[in-house]
Amino acid sequence: MNPRLSGVIGWPIGHSRSPALHGHWLARYGINGAYVALPVHPDHVAEALRALPLLGFVGCNVTVPHKEAAFRAVDHVDRVAARMGAVNTIVVRPDGTLEGRNTDGEGFLKHLQASAPDWVPTDRPVLVLGAGGAARAIVGTLADIGVPEVRIANRTDARAEALAREFGGPLKPWPWDHREEALSGCSLVVNTTQLGMAGHPALDLPLDRLPADGTVCDIVYTPLETTLLADARRRGLTAVDGLGMLLHQARAGFAAWFGVEPAVDDELRRAVLGRPIP
Ligand SMILES: NC(=O)c1ccc[n+]([C@@H]2O[C@H](COP(=O)([O-])OP(=O)(O)OC[C@H]3O[C@@H](n4cnc5c(N)ncnc54)[C@H](OP(=O)(O)O)[C@@H]3O)[C@@H](O)[C@H]2O)c1
Repeated sequence: MNPRLSGVIGWPIGHSRSPALHGHWLARYGINGAYVALPVHPDHVAEALRALPLLGFVGCNVTVPHKEAAFRAVDHVDRVAARMGAVNTIVVRPDGTLEGRNTDGEGFLKHLQASAPDWVPTDRPVLVLGAGGAARAIVGTLADIGVPEVRIANRTDARAEALAREFGGPLKPWPWDHREEALSGCSLVVNTTQLGMAGHPALDLPLDRLPADGTVCDIVYTPLETTLLADARRRGLTAVDGLGMLLHQARAGFAAWFGVEPAVDDELRRAVLGRPIP
């Protein structure tokens, strides 16, 4: 039988951890399949996606900067992708049409629940820093699971205000310059900005106002231990790193393409990091 083919399209794509991630699962479950990095220029996203069924691909992941273009190119989208206006996972249906999904929010939530099992979504506010693509996935998920108030603080305040207007419900914009005050009474704070990422400044957010049983999540995963997470651990707060979100968001695609529900565990983390877990 021919191997089942999948991959990830992006531009550039060399940095992507997805081939290591899916490659590990393929080997672990003894699947006759392959997962490859596909560098696709922004001018050719729709053509490349249209070629997937012709080339025998069962689907693909989509990464920066193609998530919005992929959303426009596919034939069907699920509710979450429609709300995001962006697609990160594509499944080729038996009739050759393309189904677009967005699994970032699901990946965030699964990892948070696994890492902070005592966190209760429905009792207190949550602060989200940032209003970009990742923030969109996360605030939508938090609203879906019943968080009573989702405070959004973003360097460009107008983007936080626009996001709150668009989603409505529990979303509440908060001025970036007053983000420290927004921690009061929160059960969870999530950094979705690029601050703390290698090559970027650290996030300036003293955690004094976060309640002592609070959880701190940083979705930046290079480095794995950001200044924010190190500070949280020093204070005895629950710290949740960004790698697990990446691993969990990959599960749904793998299951759809290769027919196996894959495990997210330390063995996978080691394979993706390419070194022992610190
Ligand atoms: N763990 C995972 O699976 C996962 C998944 C997706 C993304 N991420 C990480 O999440 C981060 C954001 O990704 P994204 O796709 O949402 O990017 P994006 O759409 O480009 O948004 C970037 C966000 O960072 C803010 N920002 C950038 N530089 C800043 C600075 N110097 N000071 C304050 N805020 C700043 C931006 O604020 P403005 O609106 O003011 O520009 C915006 O809110 C990246 O580090 C990415 O690696 C992780």
